Amino acid sequence: MTDCVLGVDLGTSAVKVSAVTKAGEIIAQEGMDFPLRQPKPGYAEQDPEDWVSATTVAIVRLILNDQLKPEQIKGISYSGQMHGLVLLDADNQVLRPAMLWNDTRSTKQREEIMAKMGDRFIEITHNQPLEGFTLPKLLWVKENQPEIFAKAKTMLLPKDYLRFRMTGNLAIDYSDATGTVMLDVDKQVWSQEILDAFDIPASLCPPLVRSIDNTGNIDDWYAQYSGLSTETVTFGGGADNACGAVGAGIDSPTKVLSSIGTSGVILKYEPQKETNYNGVLQYEDHAIPDAFYSMGVTLAAGFSLSWFKKTFAADEDFTAVVESAAQSTVGANGLLFAPYIVGERAPYADADIRGSFIGIDGIHQRHDFVRAVLEGIIFSFRDLMDEYEAKGSRFDTVVSIGGGAKSPLWQQIQANIFNTKVVSLKNEQGPGLGAAMLAAVGLGWFKSVSECTKVFVKFKDVFLPRANDVAKYRKLHDIYKQIYPSTKEITHELVAYRRENGEE
Ligand code: XUL
Repeated sequence: MTDCVLGVDLGTSAVKVSAVTKAGEIIAQEGMDFPLRQPKPGYAEQDPEDWVSATTVAIVRLILNDQLKPEQIKGISYSGQMHGLVLLDADNQVLRPAMLWNDTRSTKQREEIMAKMGDRFIEITHNQPLEGFTLPKLLWVKENQPEIFAKAKTMLLPKDYLRFRMTGNLAIDYSDATGTVMLDVDKQVWSQEILDAFDIPASLCPPLVRSIDNTGNIDDWYAQYSGLSTETVTFGGGADNACGAVGAGIDSPTKVLSSIGTSGVILKYEPQKETNYNGVLQYEDHAIPDAFYSMGVTLAAGFSLSWFKKTFAADEDFTAVVESAAQSTVGANGLLFAPYIVGERAPYADADIRGSFIGIDGIHQRHDFVRAVLEGIIFSFRDLMDEYEAKGSRFDTVVSIGGGAKSPLWQQIQANIFNTKVVSLKNEQGPGLGAAMLAAVGLGWFKSVSECTKVFVKFKDVFLPRANDVAKYRKLHDIYKQIYPSTKEITHELVAYRRENGEE
């Protein structure tokens, strides 16, 4: 019976739990979906108890179907969807559905924060107060559901609620705490200045822990419920992007992560606290102690492709649709796509921008549109790389994970647009592996996260930039960059028109 740790990857549509040995071998994996509720446009909510039930189903399956012995599971840690607001009352009961990272109802609150604090807010948190983050959501509840706000005694993020239900302990790790935009990043404490400015009781903020810190054993109730042992220890865990970076071996500033899920992320390891991108890029505490990371989020990355497939190729095989882009050319025969189909976060923080195909010509066929979508997503990543390069960063490796790593064609497009070597992972497990690594380090199996990385993370395919295509993409990206300023007014007017007509 080999000792193992569990990495719990609590995503937006499902939870996946991976059992990993000291040698970094995944010996079992189980998952379970849960629903997302969108009762009104812009709303995205979940019932926190659904996370607990789904995780428990996965753990029970690990024990019953995969024959893991509870005594074998030495530690558990967590990767969580970021920014989601869970409010608990004085008896630690959930007060309202969780408002998730992709809930955009809090534009008014976001504007109020900037009007009140302006650049000082960015100085403290190193971030802008975007709709996606937790503080604007909390202020939305304060303004719109004052009776609920008055009863709220504790604020948690999704994975922290799950850990609370498994241990009875309230805590939040630093990487998720930065995502609330209520942490003073330089001082590494909750910002009293922000709490005072918006009249939020400090007692709402849970104790801060490091991602590798012991957050208590599984309690009696959860042991009974799940079959786990009370000997199993939990650890702080981290934000999904932080854990994704850990699991992808992003442990030096010359490697950059290119991750394509529903949203897409370009993420850089930051060894020092000083770097400040003035809120254009997000700046967060890492799950690696004393380190940081910055990132830019393209809101509709994989979503742009799945939207296209669902709308124009519903009954066809997904891979075949993606690979049809090979029939087109570099630059999709003169067709460009801007992936702003649900608004954008970085480098343009604009909830009302919308996407476009530019240059549609009578010669274009569907495969040109597919190619334009694949390229447009990477052009938007290129915008983020430009932000880094403008600050003097240089990368020697892009680690591609998620949808972008599943297609050799898309990986080559990345290498050419980034003009950098692109690698994928041998056994890509997403943020769940990063979470398992945090438990492995927390248990003392490894001296540090980087020691664990040497054993757990292995690279495979390598795609090198092709000079000819690099030059073509450079010109095309210069044209692409004009799309945002040229379409901003028009698409804002269209969104306003839909709002006036009750369509949005
Ligand atoms: C990051 C963000 C998303 C979520 C997805 O700021 O909002 O990437 O973390 O879970």
